[in-house]
Amino acid sequence: MKKIGVLTSGGDAPGMNAAIRAVVRACVYKDIECVGIFKGYDGLINGDFKKLNVRSVAKILGRGGTILKSARSDEFRTKEGRKQAFEACQKQGIDGLITIGGNGTFTGAKIFHEEYGIPVVGIPGTIDNDLYGSDNTIGYDTATNTVVEAIDKIRDTANSHNRLFFVEVMGRDAGFIALRAGIATGAIAVMLPEEELSIDELIAILEKGAESNKTSSIVIVAEGDANGGAYEVAKKVNAKYAQYETRVTVLGHIQRGGSPSAWDRVLASRLGVAAVEGLVAGETNSMAGLVNDQIKYTPLETSISMKFQLNKEELRIAKILSI
Ligand code: F6P
Repeated sequence: MKKIGVLTSGGDAPGMNAAIRAVVRACVYKDIECVGIFKGYDGLINGDFKKLNVRSVAKILGRGGTILKSARSDEFRTKEGRKQAFEACQKQGIDGLITIGGNGTFTGAKIFHEEYGIPVVGIPGTIDNDLYGSDNTIGYDTATNTVVEAIDKIRDTANSHNRLFFVEVMGRDAGFIALRAGIATGAIAVMLPEEELSIDELIAILEKGAESNKTSSIVIVAEGDANGGAYEVAKKVNAKYAQYETRVTVLGHIQRGGSPSAWDRVLASRLGVAAVEGLVAGETNSMAGLVNDQIKYTPLETSISMKFQLNKEELRIAKILSI
């Protein structure tokens, strides 16, 4: 392994820069050349490369976003696009790839590896925490903290006005952020894609709260919840139960920005080094993850196809405490 290419792809996540830094510095440590690929797979196709050295990644450990930029590439989904990407890799002399991202990123990496045999190791970087093979993904902790900070503020105004707030958080297919934020902010209910809570069940919970003199409440709605998002849930609740004065807040992309937490910085640093060490040791078509505090390599196929389940204990205690 003489030259490794690194890219970030899909939705960005706080801590991606820390992972890039770790990859570059682990390469330097091992006397491997490291090439940054810009704008995800689009950059791989267009040969948008830049040699990275120790100083190229100085002062980025605590910065949100990704210095390599990110994209969701339509072209890389085509055979022709991947052929061009392979030719660009050959021209540049890249003999190993590290892809930092989520599900879509790994699906692309897997197909690319299968077609052209380039060794590839993935690093889980997504706020959604929905990848099998790592207890945490890079960005999940920071995003959850951002949500908690925002909901704490919403709680103040909800309280002053005796209002019921529906707060929508990210997670197209996964309720990890919603569940953790629900526990950390004392939400009365959490609506998750994985565990359907009907409007009637929600109203029953709200009524119970009102009976015990609860004057304001927060309901967290994960983006992917079956009821159709926070606005829809609020509308449906209002239609059946008009007693509450309701408001809706969609937190949106603030969840993807900001300086990574200490946890995410350390996780990204460990996984960045693990990805380089994995490639050098012959690991390929796999994801470097952290399972029970140990580095573990999981086949990309498994990390994509297996569903990483919500923590049952967290689900249970969220129910006990949401009254
Ligand atoms: O995959 C991460 C994620 O933040 C999802 O939770 C969300 O649904 C999606 O990205 C939003 O993507 P975009 O930035 O393309 O709107």
